[in-house]
Amino acid sequence: MNSDKRREIKSFVKRKGRMSKLQINALRNLSGIFSIPFQEKLISFHKIFQNKNNTFLEIGFGMGQATVEIAEKNPDKNYIGIEVHTPGVGKLLSEIELRELKNIRVIEYDAVEVIHHMIPDNSLQGVHIFFPDPWPKKKHHKRRLIKDSFIRLLIPKIKDEGYLYIATDWEPYAEWIVETLGRFNELANKYDLYAEHIPWRPVTAFEKKGKNKNHLIRDIWFDKKKTGL
Ligand SMILES: C[S@@+](CC[C@H](N)C(=O)[O-])C[C@H]1O[C@@H](n2cnc3c(N)ncnc32)[C@H](O)[C@@H]1O
Repeated sequence: MNSDKRREIKSFVKRKGRMSKLQINALRNLSGIFSIPFQEKLISFHKIFQNKNNTFLEIGFGMGQATVEIAEKNPDKNYIGIEVHTPGVGKLLSEIELRELKNIRVIEYDAVEVIHHMIPDNSLQGVHIFFPDPWPKKKHHKRRLIKDSFIRLLIPKIKDEGYLYIATDWEPYAEWIVETLGRFNELANKYDLYAEHIPWRPVTAFEKKGKNKNHLIRDIWFDKKKTGL
């Protein structure tokens, strides 16, 4: 994909959002330890985490609740979280320090650019996208993160037999996601249609909002097929 096309339409509009003192301090004091600055260069998970554990990517972690809970329960796995919402980045950094987690790193930048420039091929064991912005109006559908160009970019980064796990509370987006992923021969839906709720996925802030509006929660799980290469 050429870079002009990638830059055309963003899947987010940067929200201002007030920052708490805790978040400001975390950004000031902890970014140097737990953040990876955006760069147009591949990163090495081995170097960053000083281990050969499997690495998982979370895109759009919001305030990072799911990120910390999952990482805390899996100290033998590495997690990279990407988010553009600065208060959320501050919150996640403060939680990493509070819980003394060694297995999370944070990148504050557009995930599309990060994946293109920084993530090596065949490097991710799993990708989590929990409650991506649904962009419900038809005229905004082009902003949806899950679309052919993005999945085409993402697939080579996932290891054979790795997975892509998405959750949404917006039924038309759930249908769109299953249809989009279904167009890729490299991926296989692990379930007939939707996954059962996976017990280790914590309830996030956006999930709560959806449930308060009586929205159904849809979990979608696709495996990357073995290519044998
Ligand atoms: C609806 S929120 C969900 C947040 C969180 N996962 C949750 O479930 O509470 C979607 C998040 O994705 C982030 N986001 C959207 N597009 C992004 C992109 N291209 N790169 C990084 N973050 C993105 C937004 O800033 C927002 O915080």
